[in-house]
Amino acid sequence: MDDIEATIIQNKHIVSNYYTLKLRLSGSMGRVLPGQFVMLKIPGNEVFLRRPFSVYAYSNNTLTLMYRVVGKGTEILSKCPKNERTLVLGPLGNAFRIRKTDKYIVVAGGIGIAGVHTLIKRLGKKASIFYGCTNKEELSLINDMLHLNPMVSTLDGSCGFEGNVIALLGSYIESTKGEDRQIFVCGPAGMARNLRKLIEKDRTPCQVLVEERMACGLGLCFGCVIKTIDEKEPYKRACKEGPVFDLWEILL
Ligand SMILES: Cc1cc2nc3c(=O)[nH]c(=O)nc-3n(C[C@H](O)[C@H](O)[C@H](O)COP(=O)(O)OP(=O)(O)OC[C@H]3O[C@@H](n4cnc5c(N)ncnc54)[C@H](O)[C@@H]3O)c2cc1C
Ligand code: FES
Repeated sequence: MDDIEATIIQNKHIVSNYYTLKLRLSGSMGRVLPGQFVMLKIPGNEVFLRRPFSVYAYSNNTLTLMYRVVGKGTEILSKCPKNERTLVLGPLGNAFRIRKTDKYIVVAGGIGIAGVHTLIKRLGKKASIFYGCTNKEELSLINDMLHLNPMVSTLDGSCGFEGNVIALLGSYIESTKGEDRQIFVCGPAGMARNLRKLIEKDRTPCQVLVEERMACGLGLCFGCVIKTIDEKEPYKRACKEGPVFDLWEILL
C-alpha cells in the first residue's frame, strides 16, 4: 500500500448528485480485492483530511471511483477538471470473503453499489443482485449490470418493486428457503439493520461493508471504531479490521 500520485482523466456526472472519477496513477496499487478502498486527497487546500472511497474498478494503473456529493469534499471533487493532480493512498482495509456456496446474494442501496461493484464483477452470473434506489433515473448507476438481471426497487415506485430493497429481498429469501447462501451488503446503516431483522431467524451468513466516517484511514486515530460482540476487544476500526464485517459480529 503506497501513496500514489494521480491525475484525473475523467470526472463525469451520471445522474442527480452521482459522479464517476477516473484517475491515471503514476504507479501500480498492486492487487486490489473486492471491498477495499482508497483515501483520496481532495484537490486544493480547503479540505485537509482525505476522504475514503471504495474501489469501483481498477486495472492497468487506472482507478475508477463512483461518488455521491454529500458535503464539502465531494462538492469540491465534483468540480475538479481533467488533468488536475492529486494523491491516492491504497488499497486499504480487508475484503469480502467469498466461500463456496450455492447462492451469492449481493444487496446494495444507492451509492452502496460502488462498494460491491468489484465483487459483482468477480461473481458475475453467480450473483443475485438486489439494488434499491430512489427513482428510476438512479438506475443508470447499474447500467453495466443489466445483463445480470438485477432485481430493483425504487422508493417512488417509478421502476421495479415500490419500496425499500429489503422488503423486495424478503420475498426472495422466503421463496429460496433452505438453500445454502451467502449475502453481501453495502448501503445506508438502516438498510443493514433491516436486513439483520429479516434474516435473524436463520442467521444466514452475511458480510456488510460499513462506511464509517474516517480520518486517517490507517488504523492510527481510532476515529472510525464500531462496536462488536467481541467481549475482550469490542471496538474494531472500520479502516483496519474492516470495512467488511460479519453482520453477526457487529452491533448496529
Ligand atoms: C470504506 C468506505 C468506502 C466509501 N465508499 C464510498 C464510495 O465509493 N462512494 C461515495 O460516494 N462515498 C463513499 N464513502 C463515503 C464517503 O467517504 C463520504 O461520503 C465522504 O467522505 C463525504 O465527504 P464530504 O467532504 O463530501 O462530506 P462531509 O462534509 O465530510 O460530510 C457531509 C455530510 O455527510 C455525512 N457523512 C460524511 N461521511 C459519511 C459517511 N461515511 N457515512 C455517512 N454519512 C457521512 C456527514 O455527517 C455530513 O452530514 C465511503 C466511506 C467509507 C468509510
Ligand atoms: S480512520 Fe483512523 S483509525 Fe480508522
